[in-house]
Amino acid sequence: MSFSILSTGRALPKTVLTNEELCSFVDTTDEWIRSRTGIGQRHICMEESLTDLAAEAARRAMASAGVGAGDLDLILCATISSDYITPSHAGTVQEAIGASCPAFDVSAACPGFLFALDVADGYFARGRAKRILVIAAEAMSRLMDWRDRSTCVLFGDGAGAVVLGPGEGLRSLSIRTQGRTNVLYVPAARGNLPGRAQGPESYAVMDGQEVFKFAVTAMCRGLRGSIRDAGLSEADIDWVLPHQANMRIIEFAMSKMKIPPERFLINIERLANTSAACIPILLDESREQGKLKKGDLLAMCAFGAGLTSASAVIRWEID
Ligand code: COA
Repeated sequence: MSFSILSTGRALPKTVLTNEELCSFVDTTDEWIRSRTGIGQRHICMEESLTDLAAEAARRAMASAGVGAGDLDLILCATISSDYITPSHAGTVQEAIGASCPAFDVSAACPGFLFALDVADGYFARGRAKRILVIAAEAMSRLMDWRDRSTCVLFGDGAGAVVLGPGEGLRSLSIRTQGRTNVLYVPAARGNLPGRAQGPESYAVMDGQEVFKFAVTAMCRGLRGSIRDAGLSEADIDWVLPHQANMRIIEFAMSKMKIPPERFLINIERLANTSAACIPILLDESREQGKLKKGDLLAMCAFGAGLTSASAVIRWEID
């Protein structure tokens, strides 16, 4: 395999929206949200642009790796909530951090970070890059209908970043898409075509129970598949980084996998579902907390709109 993670970084918006605060304008309760999802609060972009967040996460990862903007060969951004439809989010971050390498986005919803790692794998395998910056950044708050209690309570905003270099850290990686639009989608914003009514409002629409069913299967199959592809057994895994969509989905995976629950890394109570940013934020927090030791084997898995899912096993190579 082709790369190792050299460093991590993250950034969160200043504004925290607690369940109690949400209850002042949405017909819900802290008890309902906590018991159905495990979420207690989320950060939302009130002042920051998504580029601000992503650039901050990127700068932290680059400083930690001792990598300057001129050292980067490629910038990949996983996002579905960019500041612009065009240029790409990777392009606006490139400008913000003063880089000049090629930069483009990967749109694969919540597993987008793992899809971006798969693209990076190809660049390293072809010898096209020595340093790649992968960022996952989401302002999910922009995609929510804040009158729809079945979706708006679930998501939060944030950004995570990693710098990758050639190495043997990546042990297995698999990405999947099954074309199913109707269970989770955000319609595109429309222009004002002459003589036509304005298009639909652009908010996330979700069939929560269908997504739930897909998620529990995708999580267990993905983790098992990637562990097997890496030539490992579940007992070998030091840490699981599951997508932070719903604590009940994570608990289902805990009950089915032969990996002790305390090895599952979780921050959903504080951050909610930050879509593609969940896993790199979790990585950076866990590194900062001193949990990750050189040589640890990390299993990652995420699922989302598409329907997409992805999983990976990565050996932690940072001292
Ligand atoms: N507060 C209070 N009540 C709510 C509510 C809220 N925020 N959201 C929904 N409800 C109500 C519903 O209106 C429904 O009421 P009714 O029975 O009177 O019609 C009731 O709660 C049960 O709704 P239901 O959809 O059956 O709840 P659920 O147990 O399936 O939980 C989700 C809903 C969304 C939490 C759950 O389906 C889920 O997590 N799905 C996966 C979503 C996900 O992970 N999305 C991101 C993928 S990346």
